Amino acid sequence: MVSSSHLAAILQAVMQGMPKALSDSHYPGWHLAPVTGLLNDPNGFIHSGGEYHLFYQWNALDCAHQHKCWGHWRSADLLHWEHQPIALMPDEKYDRSGCYSGSAVEDAGILTLIYTGNVKFEDGSRTAWQCLAQQNRAGGFDKLGPVVALPEGYTGHVRDPKVWRHDDHWYMVLAAQTMARQGRVLLLRSEDLRTWQNLGEIAGSERGGLAAAGYMWECPDMFTLGDSTFLICCPQGVPSEEKRYLNSHACAWLSGSLDYAQPAFSHGPLNEMDAGFEFYAPQTTLTADGRRLLVGWMGTPDGEEMAQPTVAQGWIHQMTCIRELSVRNGWLCQQPIAELQALREKEQHYLGRASDAPAIPARRLELILESEGGIELSFADTLILTWQQDELRLTRRSLVTGEWLTRYWTGAARRLQILCDHSSVEIFINDGEGVMSSRYFPAHPARLTLRGDAELQVRYWSLRRCMVE
Ligand code: FRU
Repeated sequence: MVSSSHLAAILQAVMQGMPKALSDSHYPGWHLAPVTGLLNDPNGFIHSGGEYHLFYQWNALDCAHQHKCWGHWRSADLLHWEHQPIALMPDEKYDRSGCYSGSAVEDAGILTLIYTGNVKFEDGSRTAWQCLAQQNRAGGFDKLGPVVALPEGYTGHVRDPKVWRHDDHWYMVLAAQTMARQGRVLLLRSEDLRTWQNLGEIAGSERGGLAAAGYMWECPDMFTLGDSTFLICCPQGVPSEEKRYLNSHACAWLSGSLDYAQPAFSHGPLNEMDAGFEFYAPQTTLTADGRRLLVGWMGTPDGEEMAQPTVAQGWIHQMTCIRELSVRNGWLCQQPIAELQALREKEQHYLGRASDAPAIPARRLELILESEGGIELSFADTLILTWQQDELRLTRRSLVTGEWLTRYWTGAARRLQILCDHSSVEIFINDGEGVMSSRYFPAHPARLTLRGDAELQVRYWSLRRCMVE
């Protein structure tokens, strides 16, 4: 449990850690990252009171998954962010092992957070409460306490409430694990955010036509886009295939239609959300002008995260860029938000054989490439993208064993939009039909080298810094 002495420790950690993190050559120049310690999931992403709020799972004290608070950033334009006071700290009995992930809504004009109070016991067991907190006049958050207890028939792994308004009710999707260790998503309904009725399971492993798909489905998010309802979730324990589900934990989407009354979600197959090395726990929100945006954690839990070199500099992980979702032929597509174009400096071009192209400084870079494939893009020889006619392969060395590891996107890539920051590369394929998000830790100044005989056309921009203030 965090007490006032922990608050003093957080302050000291920030005072000591921030200068070190910010001067690390791998600290992002325009992505959101913790000023010290560990960041994981985005939380409470919302447009409210004319501004965007993005909260995040944050352990300021060290690079470990414990003492989770909700950090808070605010922005008028989704580009320039401002630090806000910590919104939630694990200082109550019902959230003493961490204020875990959740979402935000505006309730009668008041910014309201719904989060998981995680409680771990000494024997290794745990329980969880879904809790409310409301913004007060001073801008801080007052906890209103638990509103959903552990539902019967599930283990203590119940968390990550995502709440939205539909017709005259509030609805919540909640991650849960059955006693038989199957990952499930529950749908709950409320009139006032205080009293909730569990309507039942709407999706999960061995449900709705899916095969065994994991023992826990973390961070569900549900929304309607185009003619479909989408459920995004992070199934842990999905069997790896030759070219999919190769990360320690997956993030995937289902599309279908939701019958709120039954409840029943009839959906198609599970599709991986991102084919790169690091992507997890995304959250979406609606903008004032009706766009559905998404931001994810550019990390994956339980893999090689603690071997990342930034740990020695006292910080770890960053968010993805903010993306706009769209649906094309039933497929969920992601593209960088248009606002990011404001970071572009002078436009440059190249047209010709890949191997004749000049090496491009890749420290902060955006590129739009068009080709039929037959090209290799080497990011400082640390991360290598092999663009073949029917497949993309992204390769880097394991930070633990040094062996080469590969991730795949299958299909004919004709157009790539690539966004680079000091230690990340996000590759958007065919206008967002696929994405590969990955961290990499190059020696700087990093350069992008193109190889291969194929012809290509490239437009590129170096990107301005945009740090949180
Ligand atoms: C996903 C997750 C969530 C949980 C949070 C704790 O990364 O494990 O399920 O709420 O992180 O930080």
